[in-house]
Amino acid sequence: MNARFNDNTRSQSAMDRPATPLNQSALSVRNLWKVYGAAPRDFASADGPTLSREHLAKRGWVAAGRAATFEVARGEVFVIMGLSGSGKSTLLRCLPWLIEPTTGDLFFDQKDLRRIPDTELVELRRNRMGMVFQSFALLPNRTVLSNVEFPLEVQRRQKTMRRERAMQMIEMVGLSGFENRRPSELSGGQQQRVGIARSLALDPELWLLDEPFSALDPLIRRDLQGEVLRIQGELAKTIVFITHDLDEAIRMADRIAIMKDGEIVQIGTPQDLVLDPANDYVARFVESIAPAKVVQAERLLLHSGQVDAGAPTTDHDETVQQFAPLIVEGDTPFAVQRNGAIIGMLDRIASLRVLAGKVGRVDVPSTNDG
Ligand SMILES: Nc1ncnc2c1ncn2[C@@H]1O[C@H](COP(=O)(O)OP(=O)(O)OP(=O)(O)O)[C@@H](O)[C@H]1O
Ligand SMILES: [Mg+2]
Repeated sequence: MNARFNDNTRSQSAMDRPATPLNQSALSVRNLWKVYGAAPRDFASADGPTLSREHLAKRGWVAAGRAATFEVARGEVFVIMGLSGSGKSTLLRCLPWLIEPTTGDLFFDQKDLRRIPDTELVELRRNRMGMVFQSFALLPNRTVLSNVEFPLEVQRRQKTMRRERAMQMIEMVGLSGFENRRPSELSGGQQQRVGIARSLALDPELWLLDEPFSALDPLIRRDLQGEVLRIQGELAKTIVFITHDLDEAIRMADRIAIMKDGEIVQIGTPQDLVLDPANDYVARFVESIAPAKVVQAERLLLHSGQVDAGAPTTDHDETVQQFAPLIVEGDTPFAVQRNGAIIGMLDRIASLRVLAGKVGRVDVPSTNDG
């Protein structure tokens, strides 16, 4: 069973969080646009954000990022999904200001990245952010060891410390024995793992991952997902993670942002997206997620009937998949609790419907109230 769903309190807190004031967010993104094409500098003065796609195209502009607005909380795992070309990598690269947004604001730890001096920006990027690029971006003339050591070298860390740390990271990604190879002597998946090791060498606060596991086979992939969650849990890193893999997304994410044509069409927990998709696009995007993996007990309460204080309980954030053995085994009523208080009785029929893959369930009148 996945680690994340045993610890859904964080997922819950991400969902309950109100429009986060700046000082609680690791990242705060406001109305960010990234426009490619002729003279993007004119975009703001031409009232670009108000123009239709057709008008933008007439001016020779392509908006790879459109009005992105979101907050990422400290310690949150924020996943970005969307079809190829929808603007995921562009958005991710704007976050460390590797791509300069055309308009809009971006705050990292309350620092306004558009307005801080370049030297401070470089320092922030170097010391507090780690990035795994979709294209690996390894230094071809350096060995694996020397690639992983590179960020520590830039920081002028002491040589023995550097080496020791790099070796630890190499071991963590399962590449011990490959230290002296060059990238050209590695498979794609191995190169990807070097990129992951390198990005972690500095122990970044903000970890930006662009499809970090796409070149890996399922077993290593699962191991490294677990590793990322472990590191995240122990060191409370803030992670922004792009993936095409829905299972990976629901395993990793506190919240998922779904992108389409440069725009974020919905941000929500996996449960939100499955139960309340904002439109058909999102609904189609998440339709292959088994509802039982994401729907939690608190969404499956009986609307009427007595609360049985003596009944066995399940936690509000347990997923149907997690509590299914209890309801399949017997017909004992279950109470659902949050923070030690009972919030209602579990609707067993609705839960079984979710287990059977039906999500129209929550508002369906229950037949076992009596
Ligand atoms: N330098 C550039 N100049 C012009 N257009 C660009 C540039 N970089 C990206 N684009 C366009 O911006 C859009 C978004 O690209 P981006 O790389 O962000 O997509 P993506 O969602 O990461 O796709 P994938 O899943 O294939 O990696 C695409 O239409 C792409 O062609
Ligand atoms: Mg991409």
